[in-house]
Amino acid sequence: MLTLGIESSCDETSVAVVRDGREILSNIISSQIEIHRLFGGVVPEIASRKHVSAILPVLDLAMEEAQVSLDDIDVIAATRGPGLIGALLVGLTAGRGLSLATGKPFVGVNHIRGHICANYLTHPELEPPFVGLIVSGGHTYLIHVDDYIDFTLYGKTRDDAAGEAFDKVARAMDIGYPGGPVIDKLAKEGEETYSLPRVMLEEGSWDFSFSGLKTAVLNELNRAKQRGEAIRKEDMACSFQRAVTDVLTEKTYRLVRELGEDKIVLAGGVSANSGLRAAMEARGREEGVAVYYPDPVLCTDNGAMIASVGYYSYRKGEEANVFADPNLGLD
Ligand code: KG4
Ligand code: ZN
Repeated sequence: MLTLGIESSCDETSVAVVRDGREILSNIISSQIEIHRLFGGVVPEIASRKHVSAILPVLDLAMEEAQVSLDDIDVIAATRGPGLIGALLVGLTAGRGLSLATGKPFVGVNHIRGHICANYLTHPELEPPFVGLIVSGGHTYLIHVDDYIDFTLYGKTRDDAAGEAFDKVARAMDIGYPGGPVIDKLAKEGEETYSLPRVMLEEGSWDFSFSGLKTAVLNELNRAKQRGEAIRKEDMACSFQRAVTDVLTEKTYRLVRELGEDKIVLAGGVSANSGLRAAMEARGREEGVAVYYPDPVLCTDNGAMIASVGYYSYRKGEEANVFADPNLGLD
């Protein structure tokens, strides 16, 4: 079965063709990062306009690279949420329009579930159940993946998402946008010399909170400024990244123990982080837990993960969700 996947929830316009939810025939991604970098973050109106101009050329390229025509496609899937409303509507309208014109079935899918599916594209042998950690620019979810599209939610962030914390800290340090990749690179050259908090919240909570950590970094930056000292950027990046990865790793392994699982699946933009991957894998070797994460290009937003979740949603008979929902969650 061939699925066409369309993603436009934030700042990537992407269309992909995927076979049986697992095999990528094409995955064209047009990123708007260069434009939003000028503003230090995603500007919604600019994002919507860029999606409008990119969607058809990206669709054409995806069909061309997969060497298929619309006739060959069995299911059309597009992200219906969460995301920026104007941005979502572009991909969703394109998908629904194609569906109406061709008579092919359409599924509107949940972007967050799509991030998990990026792992099925990278690891052909991977199957649920497992413990999942979705860490992206907009979301932080600790879940149990019961089945391909049935998730049980355990924890989420109470304030900033993990990726958002990376982006805000990088912005405060004036080292570039998006912050995650820049901090990841700098951290490799630094030492953990700044003492930053690990916010675990109250006993028994699976939730996360990153705003206190962000404030602690801002306080360090202000203190250095008042003293007329320069901040050691590599060391700050390293200290911040360790504080984030310590909390993510600790809570994920607690859930693994609680549920008696032996697999952890990382997903979302922050799952590209080398420190997080290393910490999760080191702990996995000690505890006999296998750790999975997507290929780098599949960690951030892409159409292939949407095609994959579209395939599994369609197989389960989920066809009705055609409306955009900017606040769609996992609960
Ligand atoms: O999944 P994604 O493309 O967007 C959302 O659905 O939100 O993730 C983007 C986020 C950004 O916050 C970016 O800074 C972060 O992922 N990111 C990283 C790395 N690469 C991307 N964070 C930490 N380390 C990285 N290597
Ligand atoms: Zn995403």
